Amino acid sequence: QNFFQEKQIFAGKKVMITAGATREAIDPVRFISNYSTGKMGFALAESFARKGAEVHLIAANTSIAQPENVSSYKVSSAQEMFETAQSLVSEMDICVFSAAVADYRPKEVATEKIKKNTETLTLELIKNVDIAFTLGQKKKKNQFFVGFALETQNETENALQKLQKKNFDMVVLNSLKDEGAGFAHDTNKISIIDKNGTKIDFPLKSKKEVAKDIVSFIYECLQK
Ligand code: CTP
Ligand code: CA
Repeated sequence: QNFFQEKQIFAGKKVMITAGATREAIDPVRFISNYSTGKMGFALAESFARKGAEVHLIAANTSIAQPENVSSYKVSSAQEMFETAQSLVSEMDICVFSAAVADYRPKEVATEKIKKNTETLTLELIKNVDIAFTLGQKKKKNQFFVGFALETQNETENALQKLQKKNFDMVVLNSLKDEGAGFAHDTNKISIIDKNGTKIDFPLKSKKEVAKDIVSFIYECLQK
């Protein structure tokens, strides 16, 4: 027992977290992806684990150190992330969807490296499975689902719409408006929007501190 151990308020709770950026293959050497590093999801995994939760972290293409006392699942594409999440979800008490999932993937994956023998190249993309939406449709009464939203306009309305559409219990809105917030930064500025549409703004903080705020907020919600 560690003297500095945090209160084990999530003891007995199972938490699944998606994190990172999915990669969608174009050919054997290329892919489509985005700038997400997975820092926020990893910080959440660490925070939950320190508070006693059994944490299952589904990580897509991350290169940061794995938190202690967390079960990790390495995936690459949206489809792989979906399959892993689907295999775990029924056992979970809390699911946090922090991954930046590619919305589209190339319709055909070339089996050989594409050669540059044309002046233009058109890739046809098709929609990926919406992991949070699909799992949200089967959400059980005692399960608590948390979504993330990154918006560049009509932030609050769009985030609330996502909450409703995907059956989230709360949504974390990432602000890109401030210096030092968002992708690849160590800091983040968030607002939390709950089911009633109540919005709570948090100041710019380190992602580890933001993770603690989110985890505490989830704990408070579960007490109600
Ligand atoms: N999400 C997911 N699977 C996808 C796309 C998104 O699980 N294929 C999850 C994200 O992890 C996040 C939430 O859904 O928790 C919202 O993601 P976001 O990209 O903001 O919303 P989209 O529904 O993809 O809509 P759009 O990108 O058009 O704003
Ligand atoms: Ca999206």
